[in-house]
Amino acid sequence: MGARQSMELARFVQGYTWLRKGSIYIQRKSKKMASTLNCIGLFLLLGLALVPKSHAQQCTAVDEDALLVFKGDFYCNDINNPSIPCPLDSWVPGTDCCQWSGIQCDASHRVISILLSAYFRQPMTFQITRAAEPAAFGRSLPRLTQLQDLDFRFISLNTYLPPAWGSITKLRTLNLYASSIYGEIPREFGKLSELTSFTIDTLAPGLFGFGLSGQAGIPRELCKLSKLKTFVMRYHPNLSGGIPNCIDGWRSIEDFQFFNGGDENGRDFSLKQPAATGLTGVLPASLGNLKNLRVLNLAANSFGGVIPTSLGSLTSLQTIDLAMNRLTGKIPVEFGNLKNLTILRLYKNRLYAEIPTSLGNSKALEVLDLGSNGLYGPIPDRMYNLPKVRLLRLDDNRFWGPLPRGDYLGRDLSIQLVMNVSWNFLDGPLNFRQLPKNIAELRMSTQNGRMAFTGLSPTISVLQSLRVLDLSQNQLTGKLPSTFNDMPNLQEVNLSINDFEGQVPNRLKVINADLSGNPRLVM
Ligand SMILES: *[C@@H]1O[C@H](CO)[C@@H](O)[C@H](O)[C@H]1NC(C)=O
Ligand SMILES: *[C@@H]1O[C@H](CO)[C@@H](O)[C@H](O)[C@H]1NC(C)=O
Ligand SMILES: *[C@@H]1O[C@H](CO)[C@@H](O)[C@H](O)[C@H]1NC(C)=O
Ligand SMILES: *[C@@H]1O[C@H](CO)[C@@H](O)[C@H](O)[C@H]1NC(C)=O
Repeated sequence: MGARQSMELARFVQGYTWLRKGSIYIQRKSKKMASTLNCIGLFLLLGLALVPKSHAQQCTAVDEDALLVFKGDFYCNDINNPSIPCPLDSWVPGTDCCQWSGIQCDASHRVISILLSAYFRQPMTFQITRAAEPAAFGRSLPRLTQLQDLDFRFISLNTYLPPAWGSITKLRTLNLYASSIYGEIPREFGKLSELTSFTIDTLAPGLFGFGLSGQAGIPRELCKLSKLKTFVMRYHPNLSGGIPNCIDGWRSIEDFQFFNGGDENGRDFSLKQPAATGLTGVLPASLGNLKNLRVLNLAANSFGGVIPTSLGSLTSLQTIDLAMNRLTGKIPVEFGNLKNLTILRLYKNRLYAEIPTSLGNSKALEVLDLGSNGLYGPIPDRMYNLPKVRLLRLDDNRFWGPLPRGDYLGRDLSIQLVMNVSWNFLDGPLNFRQLPKNIAELRMSTQNGRMAFTGLSPTISVLQSLRVLDLSQNQLTGKLPSTFNDMPNLQEVNLSINDFEGQVPNRLKVINADLSGNPRLVM
């Protein structure tokens, strides 16, 4: 398990513990309230003597029986922590199944929700595992005709999704976290016409299996799910196949995620197995009909072809993450129309074009990561005028020309801008007055001296927010400006492999800057 994964896992478990505490509290509270209300109701009934004394209602025999069969599909014990009670222990025949752990009923005492969560401890233990044969597992659930919500967490299912669940006609949410599911998404799920949320999150790939597998991608039959708002598939690198053209049948979709790695900092495809490709094919233009889409994250798959320009008409979009695919062509000019777009990540693709200047219109952008593509031309001046941007990565491309000039009046200095333009073909004098004043991290190194900046201007000290500066391998000459001494926030400086000469300003000595590979400097 990588460091990033375990952090993510820790975050999830934390949130999850909180969730459990919260729900137990709410459950207790609402039970107490319910019984108080029942008492008042009973007194009223007795006092008025209008109807005979009512018996406490129980769940139906059909629901109870279906749940007991389902209970039989599991082992529930914990060899490492035998003192921890199993949630399924409370599922006792003859008692009211609405009171069983993880079960919720509606006002007519019909089962509407099952939330099964096993315990998660260090060392990792599953308390609930599948006992039934895969072909028989979960077969009784369609008998719960009012069932709306199904949620499993840390259950070691180790099976494929039961096609029979396509007959749970009222199902609204089907969410599985860390439950070791493999195989295809069943075509039968296209019958779940009430489904609004579908999530399968492997959470820590390897630890909780390798996710779904097969070649069918998202089956066409699923296009019929017109009420679906959330479709989230995380870490299923063994599932190849495409997104069908009919995807615009998802008229209600707001959050569409199918990714296998990547985020702002951890950009390595964490599942580098040669056989794993993730989803394949092209991105259908019909994605541009999903008018309610806020989040589109298809990072770390193997999509080829171009980015559909139709995405530029989805004005609700806040996140577009298509990083780590094989996309070619250009960034659609139409993306400039996306006024609410805050995150645009297209790094590690094969984009080959100039940056459209229209992107400067996307004033909400906070993260713009176009690194590791074949983008070329000058960096448009307007890119630097995005008022809210905090991460700007244009590194490892083929940009040329001088750094753009900007108008940075009114820059919000509370936003710490991290900017990486390393590994390009930029050149010209380095006048730091041209850069946004809120830069906290500036990386402009080269690989094999591809950039050709001349000397380092004393104007460096106008960047008072600067903490990190990397100008390594730039063929920079001349003296190191003494204005470095006026930069109290500076912490990490790399000026290695240049051709500076003369004295080293004290500030650079104090922070132990990397000045190696400058033979003419007086140390
Ligand atoms: C999924 O990928 C992993 C890693 O490549 C592999 O070990 C595993 O057997 C694969 N599973 C299936 C069902 O293809
Ligand atoms: C853009 O965001 C604003 C503020 O959150 C919101 O009021 C507006 O409806 C959004 N626009 C679209 C097209 O979603
Ligand atoms: C900056 O970009 C270079 C070139 O792509 C990359 O090697 C380096 O890891 C990046 N550094 C940071 C901190 O983003
Ligand atoms: C400085 O940059 C060079 C070349 O980019 C790199 O090899 C070196 O590790 C960096 N030094 C530090 C202290 O990070």
